[in-house]
Amino acid sequence: MDKVKPGMIVERAIIGSTGEILLNKGVHIDARYIQRLKDIGVPAIYVRDENIGKVEYDEVVSNQTRLEALSVARDVVTNLRLRSDFDIRRVNKVVDDLVSELVTSRDLLVALIDMRAANDEGFYHSVNTTVLSVITGLGMGYNDKQLRQLACGALFHDIGVILLPPELLKKPTPLSPEENKQILKHPELGFQILRKKEGVSLMSAHVALQHHEKFDGSGYPRGLAGDEICEYARIVAVTAIYDNFVGLGSNKQLVLPHQAIQYLIKYGGIWFDPEILKVFVGIIAVFPIGSVVQLNSGVQALVTRANKNHPSRPVVRVFKNRLGARVAPPFEIDLEANPEYFIQTIVVEEP
Ligand SMILES: [Fe+2]
Repeated sequence: MDKVKPGMIVERAIIGSTGEILLNKGVHIDARYIQRLKDIGVPAIYVRDENIGKVEYDEVVSNQTRLEALSVARDVVTNLRLRSDFDIRRVNKVVDDLVSELVTSRDLLVALIDMRAANDEGFYHSVNTTVLSVITGLGMGYNDKQLRQLACGALFHDIGVILLPPELLKKPTPLSPEENKQILKHPELGFQILRKKEGVSLMSAHVALQHHEKFDGSGYPRGLAGDEICEYARIVAVTAIYDNFVGLGSNKQLVLPHQAIQYLIKYGGIWFDPEILKVFVGIIAVFPIGSVVQLNSGVQALVTRANKNHPSRPVVRVFKNRLGARVAPPFEIDLEANPEYFIQTIVVEEP
């Protein structure tokens, strides 16, 4: 966000946590918008660069389905608060839509970063965790039924949080041991909501119960280890943490996928199931579309397309030569087909 200047054109819509568009694609951003985005803690946005040219990219899920999922997530929470029940048919419909869209985009890598405001009430996080979990499930060879159960569990993994006192979640100061104990109850509370609900499988309910269990048995509430933790919950343990890192950044600074993945790998076999982690790492484009990289030849390039078979070797568009002068017109190199080139670093400075 520090590099965003008035007049830049937004390339990808920023969606708010309750399904409203905060900033649409094609908008010329002004100083007021920039300040507002900073205020609400959006760590970064996608902007267009006319010098480099248009970049085509695929969303793994259409905006329409994403907005519907956000709206369903919000609806469930509102209804649970008001009358302790919700409409499962609407949930199942959106879960079906999400799964069938993700099945058709199974050749895609997760190659875009989903940024959001720091005040996300959790809906955006739930939906994104669901998307990442289903793609991981696809990588594990799950069938449709398994994908839907996983998706439902991922969408509601933190549903128990709504039964906690709201002041606890908003508290700016560190929590007392007693308050901490209350937070640790949210998996059990979520499980109780879901297991009684007709139309929600017990497997999905277990995701809520076990998403804070850790592979080495150091998690909660039960301290289960390895295979004792249901596989769906082992997936969501990975995807939920990854999404929080990359989506929210750290202290309003963008955390890039490769940094988040490095962190996850450090805890492979300790917090996370190493086999699941391996599948997950394979679905994330190490260098997301839109990032500026430097190749071993010294040139600078923009990542324009991900290669499914080679997450670290995307197609790039060279726009600066090794001396830092603009290349006009920019040209593309497919790193998968040109093994003599590789990405040396992500360039964080402005191109
Ligand atoms: Fe949680």
